[in-house]
Amino acid sequence: MNFGSDNMAGVSPRIMAALAEANAGPAPAYGNDDLTRRAESMLQEFFEHEVAVAFVSTGTAANALALSCLVEPFGAVVCHAEAHIMVDECGAPEFYSGGAKLVGSAGYGAKLTPEIIVDVLERVGPLKPHHVRPQAVSVTQASEIGTVYSQSEIAAISVLAHARGLKVHMDGARFANALTHLDCAPADITWRAGVDVLCFGATKAGAMAAEAVIAFDPTLREALAYRRKRSGHLLSKHRFIAAQWISFLEKDHWRELAGHANAMAQRLAAGIAASGRGRVAFAVEANEVFAVIARADDERLRAAGAIHHPWSTHGIGLDPLPGDDEVFVRLVTSFATTERDVDRFLAVLGGKSA
Ligand SMILES: Cc1ncc(COP(=O)(O)O)c(C=O)c1O
Repeated sequence: MNFGSDNMAGVSPRIMAALAEANAGPAPAYGNDDLTRRAESMLQEFFEHEVAVAFVSTGTAANALALSCLVEPFGAVVCHAEAHIMVDECGAPEFYSGGAKLVGSAGYGAKLTPEIIVDVLERVGPLKPHHVRPQAVSVTQASEIGTVYSQSEIAAISVLAHARGLKVHMDGARFANALTHLDCAPADITWRAGVDVLCFGATKAGAMAAEAVIAFDPTLREALAYRRKRSGHLLSKHRFIAAQWISFLEKDHWRELAGHANAMAQRLAAGIAASGRGRVAFAVEANEVFAVIARADDERLRAAGAIHHPWSTHGIGLDPLPGDDEVFVRLVTSFATTERDVDRFLAVLGGKSA
């Protein structure tokens, strides 16, 4: 009953096998190998667009590198108050950009809207040179609260951002889950909707350590390459990250992995709603369920071996807020979650012993 994080899951056996296969013999280092070239060209096909790619091993590195290509040291990034870049990256975007400021704003379901962004831009930026200069908007797809931006929501944000001279960054640590939910072409919710740079994550979906900065403006290639090396994120045995990407993309393995994780989240959410022992707090559109449950049920679940985290209610529009005898929890599913895990959790929630 591990619903702690998709980072706690192991690696998809197919991706593990691809790593073992890539281990045969030597290969050129630092990304000058055939697997890297193949992974890059597969991403190009996947997005139906020329892209500049920088493979890295963590989502924090991807986000920080991407943003450092979009903003100056005196720039600002508009994001949600609960965005991973805002609260969970130890200031890496600020550090890599040489001091750019992140401006976080509340928004229902951890999502930004054009109205929220306009409100931020009215407060931050006009007084030159006293204010920082807003230069990018960052959206998280799927969001930190498991909601997904539709194509039109992203496009509306991009139109506004571009009209104000801001670039659009997408933190896609759970992009595969969002894409599976929307069931559209990857291009539709990225460059066709105005996204300039996507950080595409494979790790949470089932890779070992495989993230990719995808710039839809290929002229960013050099800026990315220098920043990646300078920050110590250019892997010498680069073929192993490329092998994970090839396996992830090949035969739509990403869809299989993310589809299963999403389906398990649906099963969990439906079960919680049907149990009458919890309230599912936001639309379940990816692989995360956020629910308010009784503290006593939470304690019984933990005693039975369930692993999950209490979550912050800040800035996401949770209404009503949990009472004193309730707790707001995050439950994350992954490619490795089984129906049995979900059903056991639901049984314990419903008052049965594990
Ligand atoms: C929304 C989001 N972005 C990015 C990341 C990447 O983080 P890490 O640096 O741990 O790979 C995470 C991981 O929890 C995340 O949830």
